[in-house]
Amino acid sequence: MTNDAQNRTQWLGRWGFVLAATGSAVGLGNVWKFPYMTGEYGGGAFVLVYLACILAIGVPVMMTEIALGRRGRGSPIDAIRRVTSESGGTSLWSLLGWMAMLCGFMILCFYVVVAGWSFSYLWKMLTGGLAGSSVDDMAAIFGANNESPFNLGFWSTLVTVATMVIVGKGVQGGIEKSVSWMMPGMVVMLVIMIAYGALSGGFGEALHFLFAFNAGSLSSEGMLAAMGHAFFTLSLASGAILTYGSYLPRNASIGRTTLTVAVADTLVALMAGLAIFPVIFANGMEPGSGPGLIFMSLPLAFQAMPLGTLFGILFFVMLSMAALTSSISMVEATVSWLTDNKGISRRTASWGTGILLWVISTLAMLSFNVGAEWTLAGKHFFGWLDYLTSRWMMPLGGLGMVLLAGFVLKSESLREELGLSPVVHGLWLFMVRYVSPLGILVIFVDALGIAKLQFGSHWPWLLLALVVITLVGELASPRLKRAFGA
Ligand code: PFF
Repeated sequence: MTNDAQNRTQWLGRWGFVLAATGSAVGLGNVWKFPYMTGEYGGGAFVLVYLACILAIGVPVMMTEIALGRRGRGSPIDAIRRVTSESGGTSLWSLLGWMAMLCGFMILCFYVVVAGWSFSYLWKMLTGGLAGSSVDDMAAIFGANNESPFNLGFWSTLVTVATMVIVGKGVQGGIEKSVSWMMPGMVVMLVIMIAYGALSGGFGEALHFLFAFNAGSLSSEGMLAAMGHAFFTLSLASGAILTYGSYLPRNASIGRTTLTVAVADTLVALMAGLAIFPVIFANGMEPGSGPGLIFMSLPLAFQAMPLGTLFGILFFVMLSMAALTSSISMVEATVSWLTDNKGISRRTASWGTGILLWVISTLAMLSFNVGAEWTLAGKHFFGWLDYLTSRWMMPLGGLGMVLLAGFVLKSESLREELGLSPVVHGLWLFMVRYVSPLGILVIFVDALGIAKLQFGSHWPWLLLALVVITLVGELASPRLKRAFGA
């Protein structure tokens, strides 16, 4: 790695970035978090808000982040500072970079614990440690796995070390290779499990649960969770995508790569839902069982299906790999900032970050055993890390980035960076200036209880608000005229 923004390391070709960004996006968020949150927040309505957020907020924010990264050629902090100063904006905007970097690190502190679950289940699969015939048996195995801090700590430490070894090896060497076989493998495994679910009962109920829209089950908390999850699953506002974007070659299309990543990520999440919920319903399990959901349900399916042990092993190999390709992306921002600014090697930066990560993730791991009672407002440390990052930091960071791109940065530089056709550029600008910010603000206002929304009856007002702020925004900002190519 060099410190020179111009000579920054680049991905080996267009696919290098697509693979790495997909590897970052597809992970435990899709297979572990999406199903359990869908279960907790009541199914179809949560899924619908999540999909709407991916489209109206996630895609525009991802394009913005990649553009910021590539233009600024640096860690989130440096890239945002450079790009903003190019447009004459205040350097305070680089605070967004600081928040993103912190957010990625905080996520990683609980992510390695969940990745540790996946690795420990792979081990159990290999050694026959998942024998049981009921949901209760599986719940007992999950509970026992968490009980010993030494057992759980061993697995999360393993993930921490693996992450840091890969990151220490550098961008091309470490990251690109694993994604190219892990992703197709994951999809094949999910197809097999969906086929099993379709044949073994519970599938109809699962389809209904995931896709039947029931406005009544749409709580404010659920909407905030769905929006936060859209950020989480696409790895947004946490430094990962922006830093990966900083290694993107000039000639790659940001629009096309974003769509590829977003579609792949969404498909994997929906497939995971279709694979898991039939098992849950066929076994009379409670969909809202929380973070242990997939670990308590899937092993039951592997027990029952032909070649189940083999499939189970393959599944947990894929899940563990998917977790690693995401975890490495979360430290990339910090490591890139340290190497660019502190004159230390990539290896030293990785190990330094790794030691801090190990200490904090160990505290998060203790939330499942000795620290279960250490709670604040009913949440333990692991819960707080998840709650603060997904519900607040990522949406706030995303809001900052779209406002920066929409109103502060020079239209010409973004137009040049994104390289979209005039119509698509206009649409992107409309999204980042009005649709995404309004969406984020409305969900915040609702979640904070400032005003309670009933989408069924309030949507005409929301549409009106969009029209009004668009008109006001356009009048107030003559820059947009130029952006539309007038
Ligand atoms: N997108 C990852 C997943 O769905 O598992 C999680 C994630 C990765 C979040 C990287 C944030 C991040 F920066």
